[in-house]
Amino acid sequence: MHIKHHPVLGEQLQKQVKIFFKDEPLAAYEHQSVAAALMANDIKKLGLSRNLIQPRGLFCSRGRCCSCYMTVNGEDHVRTCMTKVEEGMKIYPNDEDPEVRSECRGD
Ligand code: FES
Repeated sequence: MHIKHHPVLGEQLQKQVKIFFKDEPLAAYEHQSVAAALMANDIKKLGLSRNLIQPRGLFCSRGRCCSCYMTVNGEDHVRTCMTKVEEGMKIYPNDEDPEVRSECRGD
């Protein structure tokens, strides 16, 4: 659910843009972060943890951890809480990162 009118900040929604999550179109708004746009569309799992392979979502929401890493427009490990949406943006969860996983586990 998008916040349309904030009690303190007022009108919040800007121009609507279309983004793609796993090739499915979603509605987002200019100036929203990628993570916020996904949350507003009920997508809370942003990837899998490297070591324990558990679901990851938002944690700090201010660019201080790596919980929200996703692949955005072909670039891996993008902090989606700090990245604003753009028209046509292609977003994929950080589910597959076998090289990093094997390095972490010492495989
Ligand atoms: S949730 Fe911590 S960097 Fe994005």
